Amino acid sequence: MTLVKYVWFNGEIVKWEDAKVHVMTHAIHYGTSIFEGVRGYWNGKNLLVFRLEDHIRRMFDSAKILGMNIPYTPQELHKAVVETLRVNEIREDVYIRPVAFVSTPTIVLDIRKLDTSLAIIVMPFGKYLKPDGIRATIVSWRRVHNTMLPVMAKIGGIYVNSVLALVEARSRGFDEALLMDSSGHVVEGSGENIFIVKRGRLYTPPTYASILEGITRDTVLKLASDLKIEVVERPLTREDVYTADEVFLVGTAAEITPVVEVDYRPIGDGKPGPITTSLSETYGKIVRGAVEKYLHWITPVY
Ligand SMILES: Cc1ncc(COP(=O)(O)O)c(C=O)c1O
Repeated sequence: MTLVKYVWFNGEIVKWEDAKVHVMTHAIHYGTSIFEGVRGYWNGKNLLVFRLEDHIRRMFDSAKILGMNIPYTPQELHKAVVETLRVNEIREDVYIRPVAFVSTPTIVLDIRKLDTSLAIIVMPFGKYLKPDGIRATIVSWRRVHNTMLPVMAKIGGIYVNSVLALVEARSRGFDEALLMDSSGHVVEGSGENIFIVKRGRLYTPPTYASILEGITRDTVLKLASDLKIEVVERPLTREDVYTADEVFLVGTAAEITPVVEVDYRPIGDGKPGPITTSLSETYGKIVRGAVEKYLHWITPVY
């Protein structure tokens, strides 16, 4: 399957079919990759990449946590993302996947002296989850704790946790998984951070609660402050979620997605609530460059 014509691979633009790795690539065996998920939005005139600098910074943080060396500067990666979008002539909403991986063909676990490869793949991308509301379930797999794996880093291997969770949810007929941590607090979706609304206040798990520190989560915290909505960062129980007035999941792919049912219980009146809708509409304007105050989050491609 060819998604686009060109891929940025180790400093060069190569044809899609030439962006290949060997079967002995370390990352295939041990999950030793780090990646980002970034979105670009076409606003009818230009393609706008949302919070690119923050994504690149997180990628370098992930590399530092894993102990991997990225052989490029953040500025070089920034330029490479723009170049990859331009060379593919993308003029629609797009997903951008930078990925760095340990590429040396070896079974050795000590990665300190091994080589790193880096690729940037872009692909046209619409909605990831149903924007008018999804059905979620709390799955049996627990979110891995940050004393076991560094969940603050977007490391390929850690995503097996998300894969198992989502497969369980989808096999049981739900759209998305909610994961509890090992002490029974609801901490995340399979690829999203979670917020609930109770009596006009927003609640979300704190960053030390074994969550990925989402960039969309950060955007929502800033929007809530603009809208003078109080936010409390505290652990969420399963009961908090079931009895919330509104629940929504946030992430680059999911944007701001209302959750209208959890484990067969309607959330609120079973429809997207007013706070979720208002945040989601504002988010949609910001990412398409329609909000002056947040233009510093936008990188124009053309
Ligand atoms: C496990 C997990 N949590 C949260 C998020 C949301 O992060 P962001 O808003 O930076 O995309 C993601 C998506 O990247 C994720 O995979």
